[in-house]
Parts: sequence; structure tokens; C-alpha cells
Amino acid sequence: MKLLIDDAHIELIKHIYEFYPVDGVTTNPTILANSGRKPYDVLHEIRAFIGTEAQLHVQAVAGEAALMVKEAQRIVKELGANTYVKIPAVPEGFKAMKELAELGIPFTATAVYTPMQAYLAGKCGAAYAAPYVNRIDNMGYDGIHTAKKIHDIFRKNEIKTEVLAASFKNSQQVLELCEYGVGASTAAPDIIDGLVKNQAITSAVAAFVEDFQRLTGEGKDMTNC
Ligand code: G3P
Repeated sequence: MKLLIDDAHIELIKHIYEFYPVDGVTTNPTILANSGRKPYDVLHEIRAFIGTEAQLHVQAVAGEAALMVKEAQRIVKELGANTYVKIPAVPEGFKAMKELAELGIPFTATAVYTPMQAYLAGKCGAAYAAPYVNRIDNMGYDGIHTAKKIHDIFRKNEIKTEVLAASFKNSQQVLELCEYGVGASTAAPDIIDGLVKNQAITSAVAAFVEDFQRLTGEGKDMTNC
């Protein structure tokens, strides 16, 4: 499972990149608004930092298919290879997706709340379909189950599209989808940090250091003992 950062704050992205093996960054209009900066300024900064090999997902906001396609063309022109245009899985979005597939522009179907949206996006040729796990839960349905169901629909129908699960409220949800083998998950920096935030782990490591320095003296490690 690929793991992406769902945030546009460059300092938070740098923090996650410093410690963890991540595959890129996803954004949406709300995330860009929260950065408080001009969209292409922040996106160029992210691309420059993560490099050309990493994935960058950027959402189109127009309401009509023809304009979504124009947005997509500018997004990939500005941000280069491995940029995925997020297209909402609504009727105009599907229309845009079909055209993007013909143009060879990679896209991610977003705002996915139902398996049927994902199935149609898959048939349109989406690289990814992004079910919103937590938002589905908040509607009284089961977001994790929905993401798994979408994964199964793709595999059983030999559709190449992968799940890019999004909207997580905790790290356990990310792990559960990892165990199931979905293609990718994108999560906020604190959720990624949470994958290894565990008092038992911290205490175990601290105890090793304490024992070692009881033997060798304070400040000692394997370079200077
Ligand atoms: O980008 C879509 C998704 O990540 C939204 O997450 O936390 O706003 O529900 P959230």
C-alpha cells in the first residue's frame, strides 16, 4: 500500500518525509485554502520538495467537464510527471474522466462515497478512486467496509484502478486497509505519526538506552563506549 500525506503545509510535509517512507502528497481545495497561500505557489513548493518521482494529487474545481479538462491540462503542465488530477465522481466529472483518459492525463476519482461511483470511475480509466472513510462513517455507513468493497470490485472486474483511501480519523483505520492490500491511503501528518505513536514502544526503547548507559555511563552509545 502506498502511503501519502494529505496536507499542503510544507513544514508538516517535510517532517513526515524526514522520518517516514512516503510516496507523495494529496491535496484538495480545502487543504489548499488552509495553507492560506496561492494554489500554484504552494503546489510548486511541494513538487520541488518531494521531487519528480513522487505522486502529487491536485483537484479540479470547475463544475463543467470541459473546464475540468482545461484545469487538468494546466495542473499537469505546471506540476509535471506523476501528477494526478482529482476529479469529483459526479456526472460532469465522469464526462471529464472519459476525456482525460483519451488525453492520457492520469486522474483520481474523488469524493467517492459509494462503490458505484468507484466502479464507474474505474471504467472511465481512473488511476485511483478515493473513498472518504471517515465521512462515510459519519453518514452512518461503514467507511472501511466501503473501501474494501471497492477494492474487491476492481479486482473481480479486472479493473486496474486502485483504491486511494482518504479521510481517516485514526491510524488503526489506515493499518486495517494496509492489511487488506488496498493500493494507497492518504492521511494527515498526525495520523501518519500515530502509526508508531505507542507508549509501550517508547518505553521499551528508553529502557534499552537506560540499561546501556547504566553499564557505560551517561551519553554513551556504540560509537563512544
Ligand atoms: O481529500 C479528501 C479527504 O482527504 C478529505 O478528508 O478529513 O476532510 O474528511 P477529510
